[in-house]
Amino acid sequence: MSDVNPISQETVQEAVALALAACEAAQNLSELKAAKTQHTGEQSALAKLNSLMREVPKELKAETGKLMGQARGRVESAYAQREAVLAKQEAEARLRAETVDVTATAPRRAVGARHPLAQLMEEISDIFIAMGWEVAEGPELEHEWYNFDALGFDPDHPARAEADTFYVSPTDAHLLLRTHTSPVQVRALLDRELPLYVVAPGRVYRTDELDATHTPVFHQIEGIAIDRGLTMAHLKGTLEHFARRMFGEEARIRLRPNFFPFTEPSAEMDVWFPNARGGARWIEWGGCGMVDPNELLAVGLDPNEYQGFAFGMGIERTLQFRNNINDMRDMVEGDVRFNAQFGGLI
Ligand code: PHE
Repeated sequence: MSDVNPISQETVQEAVALALAACEAAQNLSELKAAKTQHTGEQSALAKLNSLMREVPKELKAETGKLMGQARGRVESAYAQREAVLAKQEAEARLRAETVDVTATAPRRAVGARHPLAQLMEEISDIFIAMGWEVAEGPELEHEWYNFDALGFDPDHPARAEADTFYVSPTDAHLLLRTHTSPVQVRALLDRELPLYVVAPGRVYRTDELDATHTPVFHQIEGIAIDRGLTMAHLKGTLEHFARRMFGEEARIRLRPNFFPFTEPSAEMDVWFPNARGGARWIEWGGCGMVDPNELLAVGLDPNEYQGFAFGMGIERTLQFRNNINDMRDMVEGDVRFNAQFGGLI
């Protein structure tokens, strides 16, 4: 009995062949782990054969032990090699899946754009701030006295008519939506120390229909300077500097006699706009003049001691010819694509 070997070479080879086939067939580490448990674990054919070593006859023990050792060695090294290959493949696949394109730009969501009128008012204010002027504001809901009376408008002046001006009820409160920024002149004269140099950008209202060149709500910028010894030369020099900053070094100013109840003399100002579409030409830009001595007297100043000049122009109109905008309605519709063209994207 003792010379019968319970571990035959064939059974060992068969167990090894099955273990190696399962090793090759494993496509990933978890399949390999399952195959390894099945073919080398405690319940495996090889383990079972190994446990028969006790029954191997003495004289065959060395040879059979060697056979088993080689068998287990081959299987273990095959699994180790396969594990290294699969681990590498899986690591590479993971890296590929996690690839980040560091050159990709971050997704950008524009939340809106600053309105070109707001930008232009700021640009104009900056031109005056650079000359030492201050920026002031006044209320849009204004008292008739500031908007008309203090500025010398007769009680029956046509601009006061309801056909031109939005009055706010009850009418005996004498409140209106200001029709120009000139009431800020009066407020500045009453509130501020002299000398004063103030610009006041802001919204104004007139009962115009909305069309390509009119809007019932628009913007003006007012300027007022009061000091000793101011003349029209200062007015013209200031406006010329302003025009050149706005429209380029070739821009010029031309004054034509006109009438405003609050300036004397008064002028219509034109700007020589070198970049006008269709060629350089004069463009009507706004009103101006020397602050009327009566306005100075009305706020308690002696016109022999102090003089002043004032000017006012429309912001929409300025934007319209500076940027060749055909239709003013584009400025009020609030389409962000229109606004974005002026670079104010936020
Ligand atoms: N307020 C005037 C207007 O709206 C313009 C103006 C301002 C004229 C200042 C003279 C001085 O037409």
